[in-house]
Amino acid sequence: MQVAVKNVSEQQIKSDVLVLPIYQDQLLENYKTLDKASEGLLTKLINSGDFTPKLGATLLIHLKPNKSKIQRILLIGLGKKEEITNEKLRHAGGKAFSLLKTLNYKNVSISTKEITSVSLSKAKLPPLSYFIEGALLSLYSFNKYKNNEEIKEIDNIVILAKSKDIDLPYIETIVKATNFARDITNTPANEMTPSKLAEIAQCLSSKKLTVKVLEAEDAQKEGLNAYLSVAKGSAEPSKFIILNYNGGKGAPYAIIGKSITFDSGGISLKPAEGMEKMKYDMAGGAATIAVMKAISELQLPSNIIGILPATENLPSGSATKPGDVVTSITGKTIEIVNTDAEGRLALVDAIGYVNKYFKPKAIIDIATLTGACKITFGNEAAALMSNNKELVEKIKEASEETSERVWEMPLYDEYKEYLKSDIATLKNSAGKDAALLTAGYFLKEFVSDTPWAHLDIAAVAWNDKDKPYICKGATGFGVRLLINFLKENL
Ligand code: BES
Ligand code: MN
Ligand code: ZN
Repeated sequence: MQVAVKNVSEQQIKSDVLVLPIYQDQLLENYKTLDKASEGLLTKLINSGDFTPKLGATLLIHLKPNKSKIQRILLIGLGKKEEITNEKLRHAGGKAFSLLKTLNYKNVSISTKEITSVSLSKAKLPPLSYFIEGALLSLYSFNKYKNNEEIKEIDNIVILAKSKDIDLPYIETIVKATNFARDITNTPANEMTPSKLAEIAQCLSSKKLTVKVLEAEDAQKEGLNAYLSVAKGSAEPSKFIILNYNGGKGAPYAIIGKSITFDSGGISLKPAEGMEKMKYDMAGGAATIAVMKAISELQLPSNIIGILPATENLPSGSATKPGDVVTSITGKTIEIVNTDAEGRLALVDAIGYVNKYFKPKAIIDIATLTGACKITFGNEAAALMSNNKELVEKIKEASEETSERVWEMPLYDEYKEYLKSDIATLKNSAGKDAALLTAGYFLKEFVSDTPWAHLDIAAVAWNDKDKPYICKGATGFGVRLLINFLKENL
C-alpha cells in the first residue's frame, strides 16, 4: 500500500472513494464545494437528520456517474469542532478506515481541510497527523494463517493536503513499528519462539544498531540464574537478546521487555481455560524490538539499549520447582514459591545486567506482568510504577500525546514485608493481595538507585474486542508511547 500527500483539490483526483471528515456543528467551505458536486445530496442528508456527524459516525454515498471524478464519498463525523482532540481525530480516522477495510476499494483519497483548519492546544504534531495515524493503524489485520479468505487491501491512499500539514514519514514509521509489534505478538508460540525473536532482532542490525544474543551457557556465565530458572522446563533454547543503538553521546536509556514466548505457569500450572492467550506474554519484548527498529529508522541522536530476556515457561521433569532458590545477577537470592510469577525473575536479571554493563540514565521495563493488572483496568490502562517522580512525569506526558493510557500505582514500603522469605533475600510471589503492586515492588528491589519505571501492560497488550483504531488481538501498546518518550527526552 502506498500513501502519498498531494496538494490538489478533491475534484482533481480520481479515486474510488473520497473520505470526507465533517464536524457536527460547522459545515465548512470544503463541504460546500462537494455538496455542489453531489447536487445538494450532502445538505439533504444532514438537514433531514438522516446523517448526524457525531464522532465516528459514517455514511457511504454514491455520486452520479460522469458528473464528478469522485465516485463515492465516505462521510466521517468528527463531532463538535470546539471539542476536537488528537485522540478524537485518531478515532475518526480509525472508524472511517475500519469500514473501508471491509470493502474492496483500491484507491482512496482523503479530504483534509476540516482537520487542518483546527489547532489542538496540547498536541505536539499537526492535527492531520492524528487522523492519518488512526486511519493507518485501523487497517492492520493479522492474515498470516488465513489462506482461504480473500484479503481486501487498499493500494493507494492520497492525502489531499500540503506537505507541511503532516510529517508522513514519521507517522508511517510509528504505525509500521506498532504493526510490527502486533505481528510478532499475534504469531503463535510454536512459531514465535525465543530463537525466532533473536532472529528478528538480528535482522535489525545496522551500523548504529548492534545485536548480541546470550545463549543459555553464556547467560549462566553471567550469573543470570533467575532468568535461566524460568527456561529450565522448556526444550526451546532460551535467548537473552541485547540491542544496542548508538546514535549519540552519554549514558543510554534502557528498555527491557518481558519476552516469555509462552507462559503455561510452569509447575504452578495455569488453568486450561484461556491458556492459549499466554502467547502474548512477550508483548513487552515485541514492543521493545519495534521501538528499537523505529528509533534506528528515525536516527535519533541518542543511545538506547533494548533487552529481551526471552524464554518459554513450561513444566517438565527439568523444570524449576516451587521452593527452589536461585541467585540473581545482583547477588540477591530468590525463593521461587510460584513458578507462574516468572516474568519478574527474567526481568530482574535483565535489570541487573543492564545496570552492570551499561549504567543507564534510566530503565523502563514493559511487561505483561500480572493478571491483577487486567482485573484492575480491564482493557483501559497500563499500570505505571516507579522510583523516580521526574521519569513518571515524562512518561505521563508521552502517554498523553499518544493516548496510550498509563495510571500511576503506589510502591508502599510496607510491600517489602509481603515479599519476605524465610530462607532467601525475598520470595517471588506474595500471593493475591496487592498482586499488581507487589510485582512492581519485587522489581524495585533489584533496581538500586537508577531511575526506573515499570509498565505493566497485561491489561492493554491484548484487545478483547475491536476498538476505534486498534482491532481485536495484539495492540502494540507502548510502541508509540516509548518512541515519543525517547524522541522528547534525548
Ligand atoms: N503472564 C502472567 C500475567 C498475565 C495474566 C498476563 C493474564 C496477561 C494476562 C504472569 O506471568 C503471571 O502468571 N502472573 C501471576 C503472578 C502470581 C503467580 C503472583 C498472576 O498474575 O496470576
Ligand atoms: Mn506467569
Ligand atoms: Zn507471564
